[in-house]
Amino acid sequence: MGAEEFVPARAGLGKLRTAAASCRGCELYKNATQTVFGAGPADARVVVVGEVPGDQEDRQGEPFVGPAGRLLDRAFDDAGLDRSTTYVTNAVKHFKFVERGKRRIHKTPSRTEIVACRPWLDAELDRVGPELVVALGAVAAKALLGQDFRVTKERGKVLPMGERDQRVLATVHPSSILRSDDREAAYQGLVADLAVAAKALR
Ligand code: URA
Ligand code: SF4
Repeated sequence: MGAEEFVPARAGLGKLRTAAASCRGCELYKNATQTVFGAGPADARVVVVGEVPGDQEDRQGEPFVGPAGRLLDRAFDDAGLDRSTTYVTNAVKHFKFVERGKRRIHKTPSRTEIVACRPWLDAELDRVGPELVVALGAVAAKALLGQDFRVTKERGKVLPMGERDQRVLATVHPSSILRSDDREAAYQGLVADLAVAAKALR
């Protein structure tokens, strides 16, 4: 179990993406359409880490192209962050879901799946070497900052990240805004956190 054996050593992002297409590091590849690897320029200043691809992402093979991605694009704009110099990816690269009739409902990946998929994320962070990592939601934040990390308490702060001497800022997941009772307030909260990220990059 684990992606390690599928990750080619010293490969660039293009080769990593190709190799990830045939990853069998956990069970999730079995029901998903395809691997959804990260996307964006290799010299990106920011790497955004989400949770797991959604239904649209699974169909198209690209991260954040569905409703959550559109909301993220808008929030980036409103916060003064440049999406075109950003690399976007997920903690887990295959869509996890349950079927309800014709709909496929997203499921949160397990700790085991997150750990299994981690070598891909580490390789991406290593190759891009961004100035700042933005973690969207608890799954990404805990993966990067540890299991005890609480997004509700520590969101919107630029924090040092473990061994790799990188900076990271955690905020809520855009999907949580789409589910929120007060969407406008939740959205403004995301934009405020991203504005802190934008400031840290200046
Ligand atoms: N949610 C995520 O966490 N990632 C995506 O790519 C899409 C939706
Ligand atoms: Fe490999 Fe990650 Fe997909 Fe599991 S979720 S098969 S570890 S790419």
